[in-house]
Amino acid sequence: MGIALITGASSGIGREFARQLKRDYGIEGFWLVARRADRMEALAKELDIKARIIPADLCTDEGVNAVRTALCEEKPAIRVLINAAGFGRFGAHDQISEEDTARMIDLNCKALVLITHMALPYMERGGQIIEMGSGSCFTPLPNFNVYAASKSFVLHYTKALYYEVKKYGVSATAFCPGFVHTEFLDAAGTDKAVNRPKKTKPLLRVEPVVRGCLRAARKGKKMYVTNWYTKLQHMLFKILPDGILSRLWLGMQINAEDEK
Ligand SMILES: NC(=O)c1ccc[n+]([C@@H]2O[C@H](COP(=O)([O-])OP(=O)(O)OC[C@H]3O[C@@H](n4cnc5c(N)ncnc54)[C@H](OP(=O)(O)O)[C@@H]3O)[C@@H](O)[C@H]2O)c1
Repeated sequence: MGIALITGASSGIGREFARQLKRDYGIEGFWLVARRADRMEALAKELDIKARIIPADLCTDEGVNAVRTALCEEKPAIRVLINAAGFGRFGAHDQISEEDTARMIDLNCKALVLITHMALPYMERGGQIIEMGSGSCFTPLPNFNVYAASKSFVLHYTKALYYEVKKYGVSATAFCPGFVHTEFLDAAGTDKAVNRPKKTKPLLRVEPVVRGCLRAARKGKKMYVTNWYTKLQHMLFKILPDGILSRLWLGMQINAEDEK
């Protein structure tokens, strides 16, 4: 069986994918990509696997090229590709730095697409690609705008890719969870950003959402939306105009006035 190539493997959802792929699917070979090599080494030790660890900042060309070089050198058979590296920032367009805005697009969209394309020639028949979308990918979200738009991109990209790669016996699944208990919300500024959501809890547990996604990917589903609440949101997003949805979402945020 081929390897699993996982970006964002140092934390949260990516790390949990590695755990379940080893435990429940018997995958032995792993390529783990993220910036924090020490975390990935600890994961490899915990899982007792021989992993190729690729420390890389995927917001940069050098980081993406580190994955490309490793693929060209080793030409591995890939069973599962998971693009889980990603981050978001709460705040309006003028509250998020230009650098963070660009990095969100570079990581969530550009790196995800380039790594998918460079990995595809090495995918085994029967292989699976899982791309990290989000429950926020279904509608425009003021003050979470660039993040939500980046995940919309991932959703559309993955749904089209699904049809492109079908002929190679490969499936592509967009994974769209609600808020999950990982380091994501801290990095997004849940405690400090102006215009952050008032309520993000209860958070979903990472184990069941990853388990559900792997099951959906194995069945060849184009998209996996997690729990009933995110499914309900998805349905409402389809039927309500985005003007109403945007106002509802804004009403769920803390803003500068609330904090006075
Ligand atoms: N948690 C949620 O509520 C939630 C909901 C919907 C979608 N998602 C999506 O799920 C994915 C995983 O997030 P998570 O919840 O597991 O958050 P997390 O615990 O913060 O993990 C994010 C992962 O992305 C990696 N990463 C961040 N910046 C990177 C960079 N510049 N280069 C390479 N790797 C980078 C991090 O590794 P290093 O810091 O070591 O580089 C880490 O492994 C993301 O795409 C996120 O948008 C999360």
